[in-house]
Amino acid sequence: MSLTVNELTKKYPAVSEYITQIYLILRDYSYCNNRRLSDHIGVSASAVSQAVLRLKKLNLVEQDKYGMIILLSEGVTLAEELLKRHYLLEYLMVKNLNFPWELADSEAEHLQDKVSPEFINHLDTYLEFPKTCPHGNPFPDNPNAGKILNAPRLSESKPGGTVEIVRITEEGERIPGLLHSCFEIGVMPGMMYDVSKVLEDTITLVSKNTGKKETFSQAFAEHICVFTQ
Ligand SMILES: [Fe+2]
Repeated sequence: MSLTVNELTKKYPAVSEYITQIYLILRDYSYCNNRRLSDHIGVSASAVSQAVLRLKKLNLVEQDKYGMIILLSEGVTLAEELLKRHYLLEYLMVKNLNFPWELADSEAEHLQDKVSPEFINHLDTYLEFPKTCPHGNPFPDNPNAGKILNAPRLSESKPGGTVEIVRITEEGERIPGLLHSCFEIGVMPGMMYDVSKVLEDTITLVSKNTGKKETFSQAFAEHICVFTQ
């Protein structure tokens, strides 16, 4: 890739979103095709085809004969750089600027292509090299990324168990209302809950800190990962 991240994303604005979403889908599900990308980003199949074609021309991805998208090494480097920018900006907003937890994701998305590498390096040092975003998702170089990414979903929990919230998936961060509900209830990384009731549509948690009981939609619980105890 002869262009810098800033030059590339300025020239092809859609590249930033597509390459990071492909990286994240592969990280969470191990496979990615045009259909999954289209569902994930919420755009038409033809828009995805055009975007993937562009990524191929830029030597960032290739597709096998079944249509599975493979990230090439320059694609991985670009996605990891953009993700690091995204997470550092989210971290700054939430932890240092007290910006709402549920709004930081979209705000960081606007800024991640615009800031300079010098600013990002400064931010990394200033924030003392964080290893997860405020929603618990691991930086690409987090040595515990495997354990964090493989944590089971809250929706799979059994009544009577105790869970520690690990992360809201990137997919979950994009679901309208999910981050807001988590914030309101206090379902955030590090918080501990007893699982009191599991029904088809809902799951009821009792906070280990406050004893408060909260009922949560299973559709949301599918995007919350936990360590079970
Ligand atoms: Fe995040």
